[in-house]
Parts: sequence; C-alpha cells; structure tokens
Amino acid sequence: MGVDDLLAREYSALKGTARIQFPRHRYQQRFFRDGEGKPPMTITNSGNPWTIKVPAEHRLHHLRKLFQKEIEGVSAKRAEQTETISRRDAYDYVPKDERGQAFPAIWLGAYNVTEHLVGALYMHTPYEELLEIGNGFDRDFAKGVGKVRRTLASIAVVEDMQRTGLGTALLTAGESQAKQEGAIWVTGFMDERNGTPEFYESNGYNIQPRNIALPKLEPFGVRELHPGYVNGQWFYKKL
Ligand SMILES: CC(C)(COP(=O)(O)OP(=O)(O)OC[C@H]1O[C@@H](n2cnc3c(N)ncnc32)[C@H](O)[C@@H]1OP(=O)(O)O)[C@@H](O)C(=O)NCCC(=O)NCCS
Repeated sequence: MGVDDLLAREYSALKGTARIQFPRHRYQQRFFRDGEGKPPMTITNSGNPWTIKVPAEHRLHHLRKLFQKEIEGVSAKRAEQTETISRRDAYDYVPKDERGQAFPAIWLGAYNVTEHLVGALYMHTPYEELLEIGNGFDRDFAKGVGKVRRTLASIAVVEDMQRTGLGTALLTAGESQAKQEGAIWVTGFMDERNGTPEFYESNGYNIQPRNIALPKLEPFGVRELHPGYVNGQWFYKKL
C-alpha cells in the first residue's frame, strides 16, 4: 500500500522541525496498550475457516512480518520504528475514551484452524497530518480530526486465502472498531504496486483518480495534498 513508505518519508521531511516533547514516564504510562500479557480477544469466527482476533502486543511483529511478505515496499523493522515514533509524537491528538485512556491503534490478526496467521490489518489515526495541523496552528482542531479519521495503513491476506472473503472480514471488523471509537471516515492509499481498487470498491470505498488527493472530509474539511513522490490512488469511506 505504500503508506509506510509515505510515513517514513514524511517523517524524514519533518526532522528538524519543532516536536512535541513527552516526559518518558508520561507516555510509558499511557502509551502502551493495556492488552499486553492478556490472552488475545476473539472478535469473529462465525463459521469461517478463520478467526479474527486482537493480537497480544508481543505478537504484533508476526503481523508486521506478514505485511512485509505480502505488501511490496514494506519493511517490518522500519514500520515498527515509524509506528512508535509517530504515535508518541502525535499522542496529544490521538482520541481518548471517556476515562482519558488513548485508544490503541487497531490491530487485527486472522488465524486459521491450526492457529497460523493468515491475514492482518493495521489502522490508526493519521499521525503525520495531526502533527502538522496541531503544531502548525490549532491543537483542538487536530484533536477533532484525530477523532473522526482513521487511516488504513496495512491490510494483507496470505496468497492461498485471497478471494475467500477474509480481506473483507478484516476490513469490516476494523471499520466497526473505528466506528465504536467515534470515527466517521476511513481513508487509505494504495500505490501502483499494491492493492486493487476493486477490493476497496466492493467494500464501499470511493476511489480517487491516480495521484489526486483526498477531497475535503467533513466536518473539518482539511485540504489534503498529494505528495508528489508517491504514485497511486487515495480512497475513503464514510462509516
Ligand atoms: C487486497 C487483499 C487484502 C484483499 O483480500 P481478499 O481476502 O483477497 O479480498 P476478498 O476476498 O474479501 O475480496 C472481496 C472482493 O474484492 C474484489 N477483489 C479482491 N481482490 C481482487 C483482485 N485481485 N482483483 C479484482 N477484484 C478483487 C472482488 O470483488 C472480491 O469479491 P469476489 O472474490 O467475490 O469477486 C489481498 O488481495 C491482499 O492481501 N493482497 C496483497 C497485499 C496488498 O496488496 N494489500 C493491500 C495494500 S493497499
């Protein structure tokens, strides 16, 4: 999908600009997921040859490895570094529940009957944009955008299980979690090497023409720019 590429590049572009500083103890308390050490939570299986679960924190590297294998241009190691840094830096703008606890990024794993990982999804708030908005002019505005928007950063299904409905099941479960957290838009980007518009169309997404940025999404109406160094299509859906 190339979003990791995109994040990494945007990150290097941001280097040297003002950053939000977090005292270490503060984000240690609030940043890491509270699911660590607990058994993974089953979300759906409903008679399918797979089960979709929220994986335990220490299993996330399996999901990153799957993305690396199935999505061209993704590096598991680089993705992990980018995720940690982006989320930490954009922490103030990450949506929180009523107790003030930040929602973790949405990670879902699909496992077959022998408990092997056969598909995965990773969705999060658009960290880079929130940082730009929040650092640039308006922190509350950035928080609002963070609440309503989720980025589909990665989705993949192992080759021999593609076209069996598993990608759709993962996406539907991810969207439903995002909606529960108050999101109203899911957006994403597929580069010329990965993804297929038909998959997103069949899941109700609007697909932009090649290299045309997302339209303004209400209620915040941020004007998006297409970064000239990537080639592909943006897509979006109202939940
Ligand atoms: C994209 C991906 C996650 C889709 O998962 P999937 O399990 O194959 O998708 P589904 O079975 O739910 O497909 C649902 C519908 O989407 C459309 N679709 C999915 N893949 C398609 C393809 N390669 N060509 C045309 N239509 C496709 C079809 O309409 C399909 O319904 P059908 O099989 O009844 O015709 C999977 O192909 C994949 O992992 N690809 C490699 C990694 C990748 O490119 N990820 C996306 C990065 S942007």
